[in-house]
Amino acid sequence: MPESRCLQGIWSSPWIFIFAASGSAVGLGNIWKFPYVLGQNGGGAFLFVYCACLLLVGLPVLMAEVALGRTVRSNPIDTVNDLSERRIVHPAWVFVPWLAGFTGFLILTFYSVIAGWSLAYLDRAVTGDFVSITHDGALGMFDTLLSTPAEMLLWHTVFMALVVLTVGQAVTRGLSAVVRILLPILVMTLLLLAAYSMMIGNMNEALSFMFRWSWEDITFDVVLSAVGLALFSLSVGMGAMFAYGAYMSKRMSIARACSIVVGVDLLVAILAGLVIFPLAFAFQIDVEAGPSLTFVSLPIIFGGLPGGQFFAGVFFLLLVVAALTSAISMLELFVAWLHEKFYMARLKAAFLMGLAVWFVGIAVLLSFNHWDSKFLFGLNFFELLDKFTSLILLPVGAIALSILVAWFIPHSMLQNEMITNKVSHFQWWYKTLKYISIPAMIVITFAGWIGV
Ligand code: PFF
Repeated sequence: MPESRCLQGIWSSPWIFIFAASGSAVGLGNIWKFPYVLGQNGGGAFLFVYCACLLLVGLPVLMAEVALGRTVRSNPIDTVNDLSERRIVHPAWVFVPWLAGFTGFLILTFYSVIAGWSLAYLDRAVTGDFVSITHDGALGMFDTLLSTPAEMLLWHTVFMALVVLTVGQAVTRGLSAVVRILLPILVMTLLLLAAYSMMIGNMNEALSFMFRWSWEDITFDVVLSAVGLALFSLSVGMGAMFAYGAYMSKRMSIARACSIVVGVDLLVAILAGLVIFPLAFAFQIDVEAGPSLTFVSLPIIFGGLPGGQFFAGVFFLLLVVAALTSAISMLELFVAWLHEKFYMARLKAAFLMGLAVWFVGIAVLLSFNHWDSKFLFGLNFFELLDKFTSLILLPVGAIALSILVAWFIPHSMLQNEMITNKVSHFQWWYKTLKYISIPAMIVITFAGWIGV
């Protein structure tokens, strides 16, 4: 397929895909979600299983998604339509990109609210609210934010406005420049904070919690959480990487690009853990606290750090930008489709989608206060969305997409896409996807549903 086919443009250099895809992968999932899921699942055993999931499920599925995107160079929905017009796949497979887009849409409704918390903390950081803060003070600060829906609504609105304005431009422009600067600074800041946290915190206990494990710690729940988080963190199963694959130059090896993205994603997550846990153990912060863990620990670190006000400002700014580069990839599928199919201006398409996300997001933010009561199945609206997307929609989307690629797209077409000039790479990927990733995802997901 000619490179000019893609209406949204092609990344101007093969490396830009790596930056953009890393921008999508690295976000709140690494800095907010990874530490608290690790905390709730016993530490080392989870990290070990998580790494295995990244390698045996995340990487092969990510490569499948990118390869499919690059075959037709169109938005995910039209890619499948095109393949069905050419009688390569059955038209019914179009449910895969629709499901992926719907999942991304739902995830963005709560992702934006959590990104709003980061904006609220950026505001508190620069006004010096963290200076000499105590553990109780940090807990109180977080509780106050959750019980003030007006403030959460303000930051949710600001964040969604930023998402709409950014995604309204063609993502092939500008995004990589932002990520290219953001990622190295983020990694360096995390390194610095990790060193400081280990100095003032309980390094020994944190390291043994994160890296020591025994076989009996690996329970079914640990495996289930690890698969879900690996898919979420790599942004697979939601059409984001599918859409970005369409803009990827043919000169870049998919295997190489995706391996780098997985490596960067894991590195940032582990660094976030090294920042949070030494401190959590030193200050008796409950590591199983859940979504509040990152937002209670970080102010304490910055509160005692010389120049903490400056570092806190930089850190939360980076977190907001990292969340933004992830959030825009969640809307890209529908925005590209509306633009290519109906010639709707990207900004208009982004505004309409953003408005719908913003609206549902209001119900999410109210579930932390006025609507805290249980909504369905003993869960509030936020918990319901989180569980519904991570336990049902995400795995089903990833399984369906992988089956489509591994069993229905012709072998020769895939081989063509994977130009690594090393056939062994292709075979390695293809067999892992077909015989390890897909069966593992199916067994784990279904066993999770029936509550094994
Ligand atoms: N991978 C992102 C993170 O870890 O924060 C979250 C994400 C981005 C999920 C894009 C889904 C997506 F389509």
